[in-house]
Amino acid sequence: MMDKFTPGYEDTCFFSPRTPAVRQDCINRVHMKSAKKKIADSLERSIGLEISTIGDSTFERAVNSRMKALGIAEVDAYAEKFSASTAELRRLVEEVVIPETWFFRDQIPFTLLGEHVMKADKFRQRYVFRILSLPCATGEEPYSIAMTLLQAGLPPSRFYIDAVDVSERVLALARRAVYRENSFRSGDLDFRQRFFHKTDKGFELDKTVREKVHFLKGNILHPAFMEGLGRYDVVFCRNVLIYFSKEAQQQAISTLYHILMPGGLLLTGHAESGLFFGDRFVAAARPKAFAFYKKESAAAAAARQEEVPDDTGEDSLPEPSLPAGGKPTPVFRRPAAKPAGKDEEFSLVRQLADEGKLEEAARRSEKYLLEHDPSAKWYYLLGVIRDSEGQSAEALKLFRKAVYLDPGHIESLQQLALLAERAGDRAGAANYKRRAKRLQEGG
Ligand SMILES: C[S@@+](CC[C@H](N)C(=O)[O-])C[C@H]1O[C@@H](n2cnc3c(N)ncnc32)[C@H](O)[C@@H]1O
Repeated sequence: MMDKFTPGYEDTCFFSPRTPAVRQDCINRVHMKSAKKKIADSLERSIGLEISTIGDSTFERAVNSRMKALGIAEVDAYAEKFSASTAELRRLVEEVVIPETWFFRDQIPFTLLGEHVMKADKFRQRYVFRILSLPCATGEEPYSIAMTLLQAGLPPSRFYIDAVDVSERVLALARRAVYRENSFRSGDLDFRQRFFHKTDKGFELDKTVREKVHFLKGNILHPAFMEGLGRYDVVFCRNVLIYFSKEAQQQAISTLYHILMPGGLLLTGHAESGLFFGDRFVAAARPKAFAFYKKESAAAAAARQEEVPDDTGEDSLPEPSLPAGGKPTPVFRRPAAKPAGKDEEFSLVRQLADEGKLEEAARRSEKYLLEHDPSAKWYYLLGVIRDSEGQSAEALKLFRKAVYLDPGHIESLQQLALLAERAGDRAGAANYKRRAKRLQEGG
């Protein structure tokens, strides 16, 4: 690679006047350009960012700000530090991301979401919808999703929202859930009356909405992004692909395709919807929603039809599909079969959990465990219930007991991986995932 000591390097400044000072300045600029290019390439590989979308001056300001913070004067010294340190990559990412967002941005996608879920809900009385907001930035989007569903009358126990962003800084703000006027740019602010209260720091969101959203750090382009996540009925992926290079866009679209249930609803940004026309998604017939449904195979559609009581015959929207599992959901998502035989009590308790009757489900599980021999599946069941109630420490103990009793209990290993991840224990999470994967592969 050419550097300033490479013979011929200075000839790259051939067109500059050959006075020593101007010539030196030219060499410095060429040098700086190549160091910045290295940094830009690395950002593109890591988070997909194509620098031209944010502009050179924004990028340079970000690099300069990091150099200043580190007391580094030369850009090539910074480039060296940057390439040797993932922590520095993370810090620069924080400087370059654009977390622009507001409540009920574009409005119509949220109207469609409410209609989609409520229409599907008629068929699946015990179904728990899984929704992903990716990227969620400072939280306005996932909280708008939660408010939409609560306003539509869906009980809180019937949906679950994961919200993911690559930036730790924006996630911290999202979890704090206190907002200023700038976040309220939609016309109708009735929702603010209903779900916020004013404090001297801003508008604070009520707990009922906050606790429906589970924030996670994640990079949509990371190879392990999908590990540990289940599949979602609805995915909001808006206003991020516009910042990506073409390759990164294609990679992200593949991930979105895999993470969405067949028939699931995908909401994109208005400048991004053009990327989704093709053979994997079908555009929703709703102007300004920028929405698509994931195509499903005829076999999958037929299998789903068999499961769903077609009691009205009027539904034309794809219904929520059944999950691939792997995530702590507040309830078990496959509608419980009619209780029968020796598993009657187990089915009944799952059903109670499905219906959001967590207290009763937990009480019955504990009673069963007191009166019978220890059982991995019962510990697992109670673990999921406790986790849904927000009792992660208790859930952890229960999943561990399940694995102690049955080291091949894949679901418990997956739940342990998720709990470890949430606690920031990446090594622990990776270990549980490895064990679960080995078992899944029959090892
Ligand atoms: C403009 S905001 C979009 C927020 C929201 N979806 C909306 O439309 O209002 C873009 C967000 O994308 C996040 N982001 C950028 N690259 C990402 C990546 N590779 N993976 C996950 N999030 C990313 C940024 O941190 C930023 O918060």
